[in-house]
Amino acid sequence: MFKKLAFLIVFASLVLVACQPAVPPATEVPPVAPAATEVPPAAPAATEPPVAPPAKVYTYRDMTVGFLQTGSEGGWRAANSASFKETSGQLGLKLKFYDSQNDLAKQVAGFQQFIQDPEVNVIVMSPLEVTGWEQVLKDAKAAGKPVILSDRRIDGFEDLYVTFIGADFVEEGRKAGTEMCKMLEGSANKNVWELVGNVGAAPAIDRGTGFRETATECGIVVTNSQTANWSIKEGKEVTEAWLKESKDVQGIFGQNDEMAFGAIEALKEAGLVPAVDVKIISVDATAGAFQAMLDGTLNVTVECNPLLAPQVYEAALAALNGETLPKWIPSQEGVFYFDDPNLKEIAAGRKY
Ligand code: AHR
Repeated sequence: MFKKLAFLIVFASLVLVACQPAVPPATEVPPVAPAATEVPPAAPAATEPPVAPPAKVYTYRDMTVGFLQTGSEGGWRAANSASFKETSGQLGLKLKFYDSQNDLAKQVAGFQQFIQDPEVNVIVMSPLEVTGWEQVLKDAKAAGKPVILSDRRIDGFEDLYVTFIGADFVEEGRKAGTEMCKMLEGSANKNVWELVGNVGAAPAIDRGTGFRETATECGIVVTNSQTANWSIKEGKEVTEAWLKESKDVQGIFGQNDEMAFGAIEALKEAGLVPAVDVKIISVDATAGAFQAMLDGTLNVTVECNPLLAPQVYEAALAALNGETLPKWIPSQEGVFYFDDPNLKEIAAGRKY
């Protein structure tokens, strides 16, 4: 009886093993067996300080980036957001994308959220305005989360962020002023209207400063200047209002492409020929600006490069690995002209 039972148990277990589903073998890298003859290292003398374990070396796969975007105010911003989303996928890092909807309070709230979020180990921000960041920067530092500024600078507190990666907005303004001087050379009047970005934003402040630095050297007078919040609609409305008051304008400086497009529409509807009767310069050099130059309605566009993500992620990884970086890593930018004989080819080769 007992023998029969024992045989049955053995037979049953053999059957069970044979019926298990096939698990793909994990590609295990077998641990290297220590050589039998190895002599364990002598214990360090009691006097030597304990050896700190080697610091963790972070890779992109270890990175979860909390990115605070300004909002979605135009072609430049769309290209900038796409750069962050696409590059994060290519590098294999995790991106938490926060759209601040061009609202400073929302951007500060998003910042606090990323400080609290245990997954996020580095914070990247495109600050809507140059002030209002002291407390959250201090909190991020206390939480051990490095902060990188992308696209736009802030005033002060350099010790509270790792680096700023972005354009020299003052230089962009200087370039625009220099180009406006060239186009208004010989003009009896040099009255220029300026369409400004959102109040308090670094590009709005700095491009205006740079423009005046070079434009006033050739006698240009900025006779009107007002925010149009980076938008086509407001750029048109503001220009229409000025045209109702006076048509004594020889140039318009749009601090971005969209506001310049709005001015172009307003000039046309007022019976003026954009880029002929009134010279027009914008900043950004998006695809829309190239099309306007090819159409002959925009004279010059000063580039502001939105494809910042690769440089920003590289800096973020370096920061996580404890490297010290320069406080400012400028982006590379050019200037483009409507009368460039190669304009069509240049436009065809642009990424944004
Ligand atoms: O910060 C860069 C600026 O932000 C761009 O020039 C403008 O188009 C955008 O809104």
